Amino acid sequence: MSVSLPVLLFFLFFSINCQCHPLDPLNPDEINQIRIIIQKSHLGSLSNVTFHFVDLEEPEKNDVLHWLSLHKSNNASFPYRRARVVVRASGKSHEFTLDLATNSIISQKLYSGHGFPPFTLNELIQPITLTLSSPKFQDSISRRGLNISEVSCIPLSVGWFGQKKTRRVLSVPCFYRGGTTNFWARPIEGITTLVDVESMKIIKYVDRLRAPLPEAKDANFNSSSQGSVTCNGTEVPSRINIQGHEVKWTNWIFHVGFNTRAGMIISTASIFDAARNEYRRVLYRGHVSEIFVPYMDPTFEWYYRTFMDVGEFGFGRSASTLVPSLDCPNNAVYMDGYMADSEGQVVQVPRAICIFERYAGDAAWRHTEIGVPGNLNTKGQQEVNLVIRIVTTVGNYDYILDWEFKQSGSIKVGASLTGIMEMKAVKYTNDNQITEDVYGTLVAENTIAVNHDHFLTYRIDLDVDGSKNSFLKAKLKTARAKDPKISPRKSYWTVVKETMKTESEARTQFGIEPAELWFVNAKKKTKVGNDVAYKLIPGRPSMSLLSDDDYPQIRAAYTKYQLWVTPYNKSERWAAGFYADRSHGDDNLAIWSGRNRLIENKDIVLWYTLGFHHIPCQEDYPIMPTIYDAFELRPANFFERNPLLEQ
Ligand code: MN
Ligand code: CU
Repeated sequence: MSVSLPVLLFFLFFSINCQCHPLDPLNPDEINQIRIIIQKSHLGSLSNVTFHFVDLEEPEKNDVLHWLSLHKSNNASFPYRRARVVVRASGKSHEFTLDLATNSIISQKLYSGHGFPPFTLNELIQPITLTLSSPKFQDSISRRGLNISEVSCIPLSVGWFGQKKTRRVLSVPCFYRGGTTNFWARPIEGITTLVDVESMKIIKYVDRLRAPLPEAKDANFNSSSQGSVTCNGTEVPSRINIQGHEVKWTNWIFHVGFNTRAGMIISTASIFDAARNEYRRVLYRGHVSEIFVPYMDPTFEWYYRTFMDVGEFGFGRSASTLVPSLDCPNNAVYMDGYMADSEGQVVQVPRAICIFERYAGDAAWRHTEIGVPGNLNTKGQQEVNLVIRIVTTVGNYDYILDWEFKQSGSIKVGASLTGIMEMKAVKYTNDNQITEDVYGTLVAENTIAVNHDHFLTYRIDLDVDGSKNSFLKAKLKTARAKDPKISPRKSYWTVVKETMKTESEARTQFGIEPAELWFVNAKKKTKVGNDVAYKLIPGRPSMSLLSDDDYPQIRAAYTKYQLWVTPYNKSERWAAGFYADRSHGDDNLAIWSGRNRLIENKDIVLWYTLGFHHIPCQEDYPIMPTIYDAFELRPANFFERNPLLEQ
């Protein structure tokens, strides 16, 4: 076998840039390598190859766990280093699996199912230029007495409404700046422009109605504290130890990775148990899987606004560079992100993720003792948590996504929503004029902010003290006190634990019956004999209110339940399916779970949806104060006693 010079150089290069962790995101060298492999493939001769998805192909879970258990001793072989790539060429989606160690293509396949991969940045920008330079559009603008140089447009995905055949299309609504920086508040209503992104041509243009342009006067916003948003230089707090992508902090160790689609992925989280003198596994991998944002206005200009922000636009692709002391406090440390652009070239996202200790003046535990004579005293410990944060801006909305690790063993997963609402221009200047359904709230004169939801669905592969777990509901049931001779009490509540055996038993709508939701490892017990577990503390209940036969609901059928549990399957990762743009709902979490597989004492995955129904109000205009919700994974008989006392 002869080895060519480039290949030899590559191997040298690769061995110098060895990986620190098998789940590390693709580094810039690897992204460049991937582009070259694709360019040398059979597609290389085509001129219009665009890169839509370039990501690590996750190694087999067993290989990663094996490596993790041995890598301190240097005996473990490193799991394969592969990439999954989806490119578009000649109007088709091509899937590739590449092996980076051997610089080769392992598999390639033409995708023939429904739906499309995420848009590239070019595809999102070009339709705007196209619209602004269209004579028909310019004519519509001048007939409204407006100046084309003051117009801003945005690209919107268009959903799916039962069509047999779909094209890759973006809708391009436009807005008028004219004296404000907040163009979102000044929609130019009544014009619909559809652009086919494959041919990059306008395929439909409708100018069908007029509405007054909302005034600019109240639409502006500025940071009052802008002067204080400065970078003071970052000192690495001594307790946070970061090596590559692995973070060690107090009793926790875990891996943080930037991801073009999910934004941020937390992997292989384990917590040190001082009583057992060992790290114990809690989470294999967790990230946002999809965000479904349906608007509640069925009219021609609005009905299609049923977005899937992760699958259509990419949460990492939309990540903002974090601004010190605005997005993260001064004690934060930062991680850059890397991704591929539409040509496969490396793009750096500076300061994509921040990591900081949060001390908010809360007690992790406390007690004032008055029962011991002559010994009045208070004992306690301040709560200091570690926050991992990414901020993404998808058009008008900003999502602040946090993973918060607590020394008590809890992991709190939270999201803050802020940014600007999608607004519609109307003739009304006062609510008392409105007699029809306007699908939202009049937040300023001539301005309706349209009702909508945000459903953030997380994929959480919990591995509580090992991979084999069960999901049980600890139901709180009212019981009657039986013997009036013993007790005057008539009732009390007791706990009835029911293990969910199948996927259909596991799906849960919150707020219906009182129950705690436990993920137990029935093979592991505490010294006094309880099953080792973590429990889920959910956020507020909210599920989709759309009818089951409505097209957006068919695509996001999984939003009818806030909790699903599925057996681990490497390919089941994106709740609305990988090809989310224009998907038909035939490949999503609800479909997979419909197989009703067994989930008892298996490697299982939790899918949890943070849901926000958003009825706009005037305070949300012109820019909304953040709103927050979270769920928490909290140890339950995992430790022998309060683990905070061991630190
Ligand atoms: Mn699991
Ligand atoms: Cu909202």
